[in-house]
Amino acid sequence: MDIKLKKVNSISGVVEVPADKSITHRAVMLSSLAEGDSIVRNYLPSDDCNRTIEAFRQMGAEIKIDNGNLYIKGAGLNLKKPQDGKYNIYAGNSGTTSRLISGILAGQDFETIITGDESLSKRPMSRIIEPLSKMGTEISSNDGLLPLAIKGKNPLKAMNYICDKSTAQVKSAVLFAGLYADGATIYTEPEKSRDHSERMLKAFGADVRVNGNSVTIYPAQKLLPQDITVPGDISSAVFFIAAALIVPGSSLTIKNVGVNPTRDGFIDVLKRMGAEISLINLREISNEPVCDIEVKYSKLKAANIDASIVPRMVDEIPVFVLIATQAEGITKISGAGELKVKETDRIAAVASQFKKLGAQVEALDDGFIISGNGGIPLNGNLLDSFEDHRIAMTLSIASLIAGGETIIKDSNCVSISFPNFYEVLKNICK
Ligand code: S3P
Repeated sequence: MDIKLKKVNSISGVVEVPADKSITHRAVMLSSLAEGDSIVRNYLPSDDCNRTIEAFRQMGAEIKIDNGNLYIKGAGLNLKKPQDGKYNIYAGNSGTTSRLISGILAGQDFETIITGDESLSKRPMSRIIEPLSKMGTEISSNDGLLPLAIKGKNPLKAMNYICDKSTAQVKSAVLFAGLYADGATIYTEPEKSRDHSERMLKAFGADVRVNGNSVTIYPAQKLLPQDITVPGDISSAVFFIAAALIVPGSSLTIKNVGVNPTRDGFIDVLKRMGAEISLINLREISNEPVCDIEVKYSKLKAANIDASIVPRMVDEIPVFVLIATQAEGITKISGAGELKVKETDRIAAVASQFKKLGAQVEALDDGFIISGNGGIPLNGNLLDSFEDHRIAMTLSIASLIAGGETIIKDSNCVSISFPNFYEVLKNICK
């Protein structure tokens, strides 16, 4: 489905964004592994999270949905072999489902096959195959790609693993596998990636110790059920933050946004660029910092970002590029090569579509050089989302400052992380 959008006069209002995708996946997984009844309040009912829910239903967790909450009777650490004809788990478009589940399947005493859609079937899996194989799991793949056949083992071999990338998906897979290991598993990464798994594992009673960029996990006999409330997703909020910052005369409040310090790099960089943005009502919900965000249209100056901050804003870079096109001066983004292996090659997608909008965005191997135009409107055009939710949402926000009409192909892919994105957007556009 394509969507047609037009330039708007301003953005204003008070909005709430849907629940955090990363936290929802983990809450479903750990509740399913716990012994007893957990509640996941305000979960994210998006396509990606539904893949995780379905997978754990197939493996013995009882998951009921009522009034926006999940009621989960866990199956315990030892799951049931999935009961569909081919013993398959279908991860759809979801990298998080496929990679995190692999860590759990690594410790089961059965074999499972994980498949995914066309996009996921092109994304690298060797990053989890390598550490999980070291722990003793047998994994065969299509040359490092899906489908994966995972033959679990219990106990797994504990190990000390140093990863050359900062990736929460690999870290989480190894930590989950560590629950089934024969000793302490240590995982170290170059920069700290999102730490929702560490926080939640602790809440479920696992022995997890964090020391700088290293995490140690000890084997668990069982996990204890929890009552979790999922905050709003900062990676969804950023689209509206961007809209308010770049559409003249705008002012917006976004309520109930998770601001975990491993996820708030976008806000830090915007503040450096001169954005009028404040975090208010800071509080803690289910071990995660949460606040309301107030943001106003701002004259911005360019800022450079590099590998030291990229993990804290990895999903926000496409929409950050849009903001940088409106700033004064040249913004350079480096150390973001991981964008090439997201739902689509986000470096190529962003560079090609922004060119169509008349912005000056040069693709690098690991980032971008953006020549900010100081707030001159873009030109509407026919654009391709490449069926990537974050590209579709970024281009939709760009259309708000683009003269004429913008058409975005396959815009329905927003359902991966933000099913009601266009409704919320419509309500704040004046
Ligand atoms: C995620 C981790 C990140 C992120 C993805 C969600 C997670 O991926 O891009 O959208 O929930 O752990 P990487 O771990 O590959 O960086």
